[in-house]
Amino acid sequence: MKTIAVRNPATLESLELQNRPKPGEPGPGEIRVRLHASSLNFHDLSVVTGIIPTEDNRIPMSDGAGVVEAVGPEVTEFQPGDHVVSTFFPQWLSGPPRIGDFSTTPGDGIDGYARESVVRPVHYFTLAPKGYSHEEAATLTTAGHTAWRALVVDGGLKAGSTVLTLGTGGVSIFAVQMAKAMGAQVIATSSSDAKLEKLKALGADHVINYQSDPEWGKTVRKLTDGHGADHIIEVGGPGTLPQSINAVAIGGHIALIGVLTGVAGDIPTARLMAKQARIQGLIVGSRADQQAMVRALEVLNLKPVIDRSFALEDVADAFRYEKSGQHFGKICLSI
Ligand SMILES: NC(=O)c1ccc[n+]([C@@H]2O[C@H](COP(=O)([O-])OP(=O)(O)OC[C@H]3O[C@@H](n4cnc5c(N)ncnc54)[C@H](OP(=O)(O)O)[C@@H]3O)[C@@H](O)[C@H]2O)c1
Repeated sequence: MKTIAVRNPATLESLELQNRPKPGEPGPGEIRVRLHASSLNFHDLSVVTGIIPTEDNRIPMSDGAGVVEAVGPEVTEFQPGDHVVSTFFPQWLSGPPRIGDFSTTPGDGIDGYARESVVRPVHYFTLAPKGYSHEEAATLTTAGHTAWRALVVDGGLKAGSTVLTLGTGGVSIFAVQMAKAMGAQVIATSSSDAKLEKLKALGADHVINYQSDPEWGKTVRKLTDGHGADHIIEVGGPGTLPQSINAVAIGGHIALIGVLTGVAGDIPTARLMAKQARIQGLIVGSRADQQAMVRALEVLNLKPVIDRSFALEDVADAFRYEKSGQHFGKICLSI
């Protein structure tokens, strides 16, 4: 079967297309999934470029979606023909977070889904939303689930609240869609005026160019009559946090999700204290939360925004495209 492997030292140029044996029959509690799609995340980019070190020959990609081909003995949850999507933390089934690293995450600490077929215990997958293509389903493992947890599971989003999203990557675009679908007001930022138009078309109530308006935190407060944003999808990190703290409502919630501007920096702590806001670090979520998200997406009839798809063999070009920052929403791999 076609497989992509990360060869060390990891670079986009050293990603290797290999022909590996197809996995055999699933054992007790296992399923064999014919993978049809994956999707790219900043985390995967860090693995395939060596920013996050991984072992030689690691199969990259945390997101995987496809069809159950065979089920092993004792499997009752799935049957052949089911459309499924992978989970980011296969060992975190439900409840509060208990894993603080990527050692169990497919495509990082263990082999991922840049391949045609895989045998895994059932808890590595959930059902995909009905009516989703495999590419659409693949966007949920990391980006969709992170936006869902930030807004709904941990944020407790209510209709009428204000959500601020930063940039137009996979997580942020999901957050715009989920927030609108659940009755929130959305303020969205981007560095590109053309992307701001797309955000408006997607339903954003207000848009801000964070490059031409570096004091965008103040602008968010102005747009909300001084109230600020109840929820912020913080994908930037140290370079954007000071403005997010300016933007957040008193008692609001900042979901600290990303590191696009770096991994450490100064935080205006007194301002944060005065705002009585919560900054919460989070990484994706549990399998039970993914199942709840799948049900919600079916009812909300919400479909991901896919910018572009590449063939598995063109994975390096797909990552070059992600690095270029031209995308709006998700970039997928078709397997
Ligand atoms: N904690 C978690 O569970 C989790 C899960 C998924 C992702 N993440 C993290 O979240 C971040 C985004 O991930 P992604 O996969 O959505 O990335 P992505 O699809 O590659 O998004 C990149 C986009 O971010 C925007 N951006 C870049 N610098 C920015 C800045 N200074 N201020 C505001 N926006 C900026 C740009 O949007 P414009 O072109 O519109 O300016 C860019 O297109 C990454 O750091 C990733 O590691 C974390």
